[in-house]
Amino acid sequence: MNRSCLAIILAAGEGTRMKSALPKVLHKIAGLPLVCHVVRQVQSAGVDEIAIVVGRGADEVSSAVKNVSARAQFFTQNLRLGTAHAALEARELLKKDYDDVLVVFGDTPLVQTASLKRARQELEDGADIVVLGFETENPTGYGRLIQEGGKLKAIVEEKDATADQKKIKFCNGGIMAINGKYALSLLEQVKNDNAKKEYYLTDIVSIGVAQGLDVTAISIPFENVIGVNTRVELAQAEALWQKRKADELMLSGVTLLRPETVYFSYDTEIANDVVIEPNVYFGQNVKVETGAVIHAFSHLEGAIVEAQAEIGPFARLRPGAIVENSAKVGNFCEIKKAKIGEGAKVNHLTYIGDAEIGRHTNIGAGTITCNYDGFNKWKTIIGENAFIGSNSALVAPVEIGDGAYVASGSVITDKVPANGVAFGRARQSNKEGYAATLRERFSSIKNKDG
Ligand code: UD1
Ligand code: MG
Repeated sequence: MNRSCLAIILAAGEGTRMKSALPKVLHKIAGLPLVCHVVRQVQSAGVDEIAIVVGRGADEVSSAVKNVSARAQFFTQNLRLGTAHAALEARELLKKDYDDVLVVFGDTPLVQTASLKRARQELEDGADIVVLGFETENPTGYGRLIQEGGKLKAIVEEKDATADQKKIKFCNGGIMAINGKYALSLLEQVKNDNAKKEYYLTDIVSIGVAQGLDVTAISIPFENVIGVNTRVELAQAEALWQKRKADELMLSGVTLLRPETVYFSYDTEIANDVVIEPNVYFGQNVKVETGAVIHAFSHLEGAIVEAQAEIGPFARLRPGAIVENSAKVGNFCEIKKAKIGEGAKVNHLTYIGDAEIGRHTNIGAGTITCNYDGFNKWKTIIGENAFIGSNSALVAPVEIGDGAYVASGSVITDKVPANGVAFGRARQSNKEGYAATLRERFSSIKNKDG
């Protein structure tokens, strides 16, 4: 598309219906603030400039947006006088004669690049104002699209709608594409003579119609324009996003045994032929390579699971965990900032933190890397083909060489050389027949509380 485009994202609203100390657009779905979802989709729609109108929590909103867009520009709306008033805060950019102006709300996180491109295509085909609408059985709260003879005439907000208008099920999705020639003047003509005494962006429709502009509405699925105003809608948007992600992954070759029970982050990357069992949680920044299996009830965050590796059930991978090819991390194991080498096994009840474990090493049940002394974190380095006996405490900083063997129940505080055996525990001593003597002695003692 050769047309120039300005996108204005409105994110200054109070968000009172969220009943939250956090600005509405910073509430998250899939681990990413609502407004950042919008910014990411808008960026891919071939826009030249992005204006973000901020108000409540301006600093926090701006810094969240900067994490996903280096080129967004910020405009502050000091008084929250409505969506048209908010869009006009970007006046300086509206004056620049863009071919297309997109106005998108920061609280519609499921908007898709394809819908934005479609609206721009309508402009290219001759429309002056394009409204993205949707059909719903439950239109309460949304602006209703009033059509006459198949043409869009006006948008009426819930609070201003008559009983008959409230029955209309074709609603405003909150995304508009406007011919850049008219955008500024249309917005400047909006008045606030309505129930909320606000300057409604939606009024540019009737203003445009009165001026003889070509105004049109296109219908897109509700799933793409759900607006988040309450925590109920936040949960609905999250569920829709998760369903979309799960479908996308399955179509790309990932097996999800119970897709509706798995939680993904916006950036979760999973290769084909990975199998994911029920009730798995992916926090931010997780990558799973082909053929790996994630068993039920595992919790992963900031981790890389390489090809054919196996995680869980009930495993926790924390940031910095790297589980190399064909390695295994089993039930009730926690891995933090640690590399588990190719083919190594950490199968039961273990904590490995700030560590490197070499290829094909076996870590016995209940092994703990004691990485923290109350002040600093220290590293444990274990070589290849080593064997750590069950219930060992490895007190870092400590090194265990290739092929070394640590006896079960050891507390290891010093380096174990390659191929050495370390016993870090008291030796067992047996007293033949002594049990009978003990029993006699204990039975003759009378405990005064007993
Ligand atoms: C708005 C639309 C409605 C549409 C719905 C879709 C208007 C008047 N109404 O209603 O037709 O069906 O979205 O979700 O446009 N904002 C500002 N400054 C303001 C007011 C709002 O930046 O002064 C921002 C908010 O942060 C939000 C967006 O604009 O991201 C929409 O505002 P909101 O109050 O949620 O409008 P709705 O009542 O949902
Ligand atoms: Mg809204």
